[in-house]
Order: sequence, then C-alpha cells, then structure tokens
Amino acid sequence: MRYGILIAFVLAMGFGCQHESQQEKEQLISYDTTAVVNEGQQIAKATFQTLSSNLKNAIAEGGVEHALQFCNVEAIPLTDSLSKHHDVSIRRASHKPRTPYNTADSLEVEVIKQYIDKLESGDELKPVTYADENRITFHAPITITNSLCLNCHGKVNEDISKENLATIQELYPKDQATGFSMGDLRGIWTVRFPATHFDSVKIEHTKEL
Ligand code: HEC
Repeated sequence: MRYGILIAFVLAMGFGCQHESQQEKEQLISYDTTAVVNEGQQIAKATFQTLSSNLKNAIAEGGVEHALQFCNVEAIPLTDSLSKHHDVSIRRASHKPRTPYNTADSLEVEVIKQYIDKLESGDELKPVTYADENRITFHAPITITNSLCLNCHGKVNEDISKENLATIQELYPKDQATGFSMGDLRGIWTVRFPATHFDSVKIEHTKEL
C-alpha cells in the first residue's frame, strides 16, 4: 500500500515538474497536473454553463439586443461570484476582447498563440497548467462551436445585424470581438488556484545562487 502511494506521487511529480530560476534561488515546484486539469476543467465547465444558460434565457426573453445589454451588466459579476464560490480566480481572456477587462496578459497571450498555432496545424487543443511559488494556473481554449456565438462575435453585416452592431459599439466602444468564424479560437479560460489549494504542491528551494 505504501509502495503504491509512493509510485503515484513520483509519477505525478514527473508530469508536473517545473524549474524556476530567480535571482537569489532556484525553485523546484512539483504538483499533480492531472488534479489541476480535472478541477480547472470542472470549474471552467460550470462557469460556461452558468454564462451560457443566462445568455440563452436572455435571448429567449428579449432577443440578441437584450442579451447584449444583459451580458454587459451581468457577465463579469456572474464570473466573479463563481470565483468566490470555488475560492479561486476565474476569468475569460482574449487576444481580441470585447471589453478591455478581458484583455489577455503576457502569459495569456503566449497560451493563445500556442492554441492558434495548434488549430492551424490541426492538433488537438489541450488544457495547460503553470506554477509559481504562490499559485497554480489552469488554461483551456474557448473555440466557437455554436453558431449562436456568431450573432455577437461573427462577421459584421453577415452574421451580426446592423442594429446589434450599433448596440455592441455603443456598449463597447473598444470592441475587437467580431469577425470570428466557426472553429476559431475566441479566447481562453484562466483559473488561478492558490498554491495551497492542492496537497500535492511541493516547493523546494534547491540552491542559493
Ligand atoms: C448576445 C450576444 C452574445 C452572444 C450570443 C455571445 N457573446 Fe460572447 N460576449 C458578449 C459580450 C457582450 C461580451 C462581453 C461581456 C463581458 O465579459 O463583460 C462577451 C464576451 C465573451 C468572451 C470574453 C472575452 C471578451 O471578448 O471580452 C468570450 C470568450 C466569449 N464572449 C465567447 C462567446 C462564445 C464562445 C459564445 C457562443 C457560445 C458567445 N460568446 C456568445 C456577447 C455575446
């Protein structure tokens, strides 16, 4: 039994090792990536379902126009309340954001670039994880897999009606989130866990430089 536990831990370390060189010390952070991916995926999925059922209800109630107004007010607070519920930070980030609040930071831009390269070469897009001393970060792709999305993120004058475009421009003067087609990468999920969230996280300061 003890042997089994040891093997499991060594395997987990093998997948999740990450070296971080800093000016004064070298850190070795090991963690069970499978546990991070599983929990990250669960949280991203739950958030997607909440946003998407709210979106569909809003469209059913008052059409795309009403849904735009609804998302404008509710999307970020809904995501934030799920962050509190799961005790993590959840966000959607994009290289072409609708709202500046969702602009990808430098690490998110790198992840997005990798996903776009993979899409172009026909590779599968898988979640990725990163670790530093304080937190473990999970990313997963958001692609356009439903033609519903094109009402608000598709091609201007083709998928997006004149009236809806006017509403988008009024609510989001800096909007960049149009021109997408089915299958495109719309953005990514970012779920940040405190490092203490996972028992498997081990941080060793291996040497002073
Ligand atoms: C009714 C219009 C509407 C529809 C339909 C819609 N969205 Fe959006 N989307 C918005 C608005 C408005 C925002 C900005 C809301 C916010 O986060 O404050 C947004 C933001 C986003 C973001 C966050 C990044 C950014 O650009 O700010 C992603 C990712 C996204 N949408 C993906 C999708 C996907 C995938 C679908 C289809 C399942 C979809 N949207 C359908 C209106 C829409």
